[in-house]
Amino acid sequence: MPDVATEDRLDIDAVRRDFPILGRPLAKGLQLVYLDSASSAQKPQAVIDKEVEVYENYYANAYRGVYRFGIQVDDGLELTRSKVQALLNAERSEEIVFTSGSTMAINTVAYGWARKNLQAGDEVLLNEMEHHANFVPWQQMAAQVGATCRMIPLTADLRLDMDRLGEVLGPRTKMVAVTGMSNVTGTINPIQELARRAHEVGALIAVDGAQSVPHQATDVRALDVDFLAFSGHKLCGPSGIGVLYGKYALLEEMDPLLYGGHMIDRVTREGSTWAPPPAKFEAGTSAIAQCVALSAAIDYLEKLGIAAISAHESRLTSYAHERLLQVPGLKIYGPAPPHKGAIVSFTIEGAHPEDLAQLLDRRGVFVRHGHHCTMPLHDLMGVSATVRASFGVYTSRADIDALVEAIQFAREKLRLA
Ligand code: ALA
Repeated sequence: MPDVATEDRLDIDAVRRDFPILGRPLAKGLQLVYLDSASSAQKPQAVIDKEVEVYENYYANAYRGVYRFGIQVDDGLELTRSKVQALLNAERSEEIVFTSGSTMAINTVAYGWARKNLQAGDEVLLNEMEHHANFVPWQQMAAQVGATCRMIPLTADLRLDMDRLGEVLGPRTKMVAVTGMSNVTGTINPIQELARRAHEVGALIAVDGAQSVPHQATDVRALDVDFLAFSGHKLCGPSGIGVLYGKYALLEEMDPLLYGGHMIDRVTREGSTWAPPPAKFEAGTSAIAQCVALSAAIDYLEKLGIAAISAHESRLTSYAHERLLQVPGLKIYGPAPPHKGAIVSFTIEGAHPEDLAQLLDRRGVFVRHGHHCTMPLHDLMGVSATVRASFGVYTSRADIDALVEAIQFAREKLRLA
């Protein structure tokens, strides 16, 4: 792959050429304008090639065979584990657990940690911007043990109101579950400060990094987070593979969520004991080729430079705000840059989000619409749905221009213009 990063500037044309799907015209010669990277990012050729390489050359099950393919696959998985360890600056590779994605990772903590440590009267701090994946598992677990979920208040521009954190954080708090970046408003949360405040009262912090890890540097030791989850598919990697980071001592004392093969130490007719982390949390056959290919995604993004990616995306987000706010009747939800990542959710007066998304599709512009798995946030915003444009490393200013032109087309079709 050519070196396409220069200081904090990406050569965006070169980056786009790495993603084969972006060069393929849609029906009627339309150019694809992919603005749904927060749902799932597109894949560079290097990731596609790596997955195919496994299937074509050395595919076998992992952690089972001593024959050479088995060993090659095991080495591939462990290489990915060490690359994730470096990406997150985790202390040990055993702190990196492979899961099917962020949802599975968060459920692993909610069940494995909370079932053992949460009791009646305890409190879990959530907030309304959380994705359902970091909301519902905690709600369910709290209900099962008689604990309470409390909400950190949000400011008018949908940021955590840190001045009011003391109203809900206290000696009863056992866990603060929070997203690194909102999947709707792009709000970037002050994780380091939250971790410090949580630890001061003896609570732990679990971070949903699904949206933040692909877009900004993440250092679990500097942040001092106890758990962090992310998904490979939002990091330009394959789907079906994700990561749970946990401090080793916490992983060691947690119960597994899934029981079965590979996660045991000893099984007898009378009972079983568990392997040490991470195997304890990796029951069954992993997503083998996907996990090996995740390392190619990490290599790809690191070659471009995470700082360069963040800088590119923050310029794009500011440009998107500037252009979109000129559209009559358009309202953007959440904070303005720089308090946000590469996600812009909006409504247009008189236009239903689903109609808008369908009309944008007619111009080749792909966006998500709906509640984006954040019903409490949409309740708070007073709308049942928004349209969301989200950007990735390959998104260009031309994509934003195409979005604005397609919105104009939609407004005309809806007789708003
Ligand atoms: N969590 C993904 C999103 O926000 C699917 O779209």
